[in-house]
Amino acid sequence: MKRLLILTVLILTPILGFTSGGGISLETANIDLHDKASLQRGAKYFMNYCAGCHSLKYARYNRMARDLGLTDKQVQDNLMFVSGSKVGNQITISMSEAQGEKWFGAPVPDLTLVTRNKIGGSDWLYTYLKSFYIDPKRPYGVNNAVFPDVAMPDVLAELRGTQTIEYKEGKNAAGQPIHVFKQFRRHGGLSNDELDRVFLDLTAFLTYMGEPMQLERRALGKWVLLFLAVFTLLAFLLKKEYWRDVH
Ligand code: HEC
Repeated sequence: MKRLLILTVLILTPILGFTSGGGISLETANIDLHDKASLQRGAKYFMNYCAGCHSLKYARYNRMARDLGLTDKQVQDNLMFVSGSKVGNQITISMSEAQGEKWFGAPVPDLTLVTRNKIGGSDWLYTYLKSFYIDPKRPYGVNNAVFPDVAMPDVLAELRGTQTIEYKEGKNAAGQPIHVFKQFRRHGGLSNDELDRVFLDLTAFLTYMGEPMQLERRALGKWVLLFLAVFTLLAFLLKKEYWRDVH
């Protein structure tokens, strides 16, 4: 038993205590996937700020409309910017993969599953969105503390304002002095609460995208339990009926 406990702790340590490459720890994304208004705002931000470069090609507009409590018309009028696209289509973009790579120096990834294929999932995405900072050495003048030397510009700069990074002195495992992330400083842009709301809404929306069934699963769970209860009763009664003749 004790061994099992130690093993469990050892296995979980890297999962619970992970920090990302830049030495910054991930923040918990306090999202609520049942908050339809938050998901709708997230969709709006995504289509306005992200869909110029990133597709959601494993999802369709009309499924998103249904899940987010919107009509097809609302989605068509407010959230579809690719000309000629229909509500039954996948959420693709006009830019080809080759163009993206040529312009940004790195392929622009599809984001349908981004919260599922990153270690840290939604927390990773949330912290990534928060962590762009000014770095004159980079082509776009910004870097990211969670994704060092990222090829993505800070597309939310108008909301974020100017964010700089501060380090403190620290030591690595070998005892040598290193710079350790201390904090960000932000000037201009939205208030902290408003900006956080934007990051949370975007994170909620992309988390939903990664697994649309999450919204239905809980509702479905109740019916499955009810079915199992009724079925158990029936099986019990049936067993009694069979054995009455045997006895
Ligand atoms: C101007 C084009 C552009 C826009 C607009 C843009 N991105 Fe990006 N994004 C990129 C590029 C290029 C990369 C690849 C970075 C790399 O590999 O270094 C990227 C990478 C990412 C990644 C990392 C994905 C992975 O699998 O590693 C996430 C998450 C992301 N973007 C989220 C967003 C979100 C959310 C928005 C909208 C708020 C957005 N992006 C808007 C160009 C863009």
